Amino acid sequence: MQTQSRFLIFCCLLLGVSINACTNGTTPIITEQGASSPNLSVAYTYANTTFPKHIADALALTDNTPTNNPITDAGATLGRVLFYDKQLSKNNTISCGSCHKQELSFTDDAVKSKGFQGGLTNRHSMPLLSVRFYQSGKMFWDERAATLEAQVLMPIQDEVEMGMTLPELEQRLATLSYYPSLFQKAFGSSAITSERIALALAQFVRSIVPYQSKYDRVKQGLESFTTSEARGEQAFNAGNGSCASCHPPPMFITSNPARPFGLPNTGDGGADGRGNFKSPSLRNTAERTALFHNGSIADIEQMFNGRIPAHGVGGAARADLTAFLRTLTDMSITTDPKFSNPFTNTP
Ligand code: HEC
Ligand code: HEC
Repeated sequence: MQTQSRFLIFCCLLLGVSINACTNGTTPIITEQGASSPNLSVAYTYANTTFPKHIADALALTDNTPTNNPITDAGATLGRVLFYDKQLSKNNTISCGSCHKQELSFTDDAVKSKGFQGGLTNRHSMPLLSVRFYQSGKMFWDERAATLEAQVLMPIQDEVEMGMTLPELEQRLATLSYYPSLFQKAFGSSAITSERIALALAQFVRSIVPYQSKYDRVKQGLESFTTSEARGEQAFNAGNGSCASCHPPPMFITSNPARPFGLPNTGDGGADGRGNFKSPSLRNTAERTALFHNGSIADIEQMFNGRIPAHGVGGAARADLTAFLRTLTDMSITTDPKFSNPFTNTP
């Protein structure tokens, strides 16, 4: 394979094409251990995104970005490579992106996801949308990670998910030719430490914020809701105990873990042993399947069917709420190249 790619570069040179065009194509450059190098020929911007006002206002109140880890373009770029690199798992088979798939709003359609040896996770994978807006910064359905920086190292060390130790991880990455320069650009020196790995992964995950849904265009006065969507928004926001009291706009993430009262057969104590769970953002929820912490609810239609208190809604209100939830869909996040897999041979 190495000879093949050298031959390809040679041909490109002969044809007077730049080497960049060679790395830009579908043929991966093969490096150590059969891993391909990431294609980073396009430099993307992650820092200082200009959000519409309704989002910027919410971010000002709820942003969990720590002062020592603001998003930088070089840091999030390194984070993107780490996120999609299967070398982060014991047997090079699983990356973060295997269970948090971009095309599925950074979650999985499987009820439980498969780890590096085929074992199943305990809960359903969470959609990594607007994670930055969870004010307390605590991560997982049960909030067991105190910060996102702490969380991102946990799947790597999880026995089911990726099966590595941190010393193993640092040693592994040091053998891969593309990392020293990425760490250099992100942190000013090429040293590869698990602390830096955590910082970069957290920057990438924090940068995934959908803000181009119909809902967002309506809030900016660029479009209008249909009558049904408008009624749905009203029902969503109406009074005490409303959907919005637990899933506040504009990101629709719970502000605290709550108890959606008795999902069938979960046997899972959640955040406090009493069945309280965090809910991820309801953005793109209408497109997702396997909802709730155990993935037991097929989709929003099944949810509204009334099995879960506070979530069962009937009659016309159901159609209106469904129409409203659909306005929260932003598919651009599922195809945006800056969040895509940079390893060209591992789609
Ligand atoms: C084998 C599948 C799998 C892999 C690999 C995996 N995750 Fe997850 N992820 C999950 C599951 C399942 C949950 C929910 C677990 C729970 O709450 O107990 C989760 C939860 C999360 C959360 C919490 C989100 C929130 O809103 O609280 C973040 C962040 C996250 N993962 C990031 C990552 C990163 C970064 C990687 C790679 C280093 C990764 N995951 C690898 C399955 C996976
Ligand atoms: C008492 C607080 C509370 C109220 C009221 C509430 N929710 Fe929830 N919701 C939650 C919690 C907590 C979860 C996650 C629970 C779990 O997984 O066990 C959740 C989960 C969801 C999910 C699945 C999210 C996912 O990604 O799996 C949707 C969709 C949802 N709620 C919509 C609604 C709608 C629509 C309403 C109003 C009809 C509503 N909720 C009312 C707290 C609430």
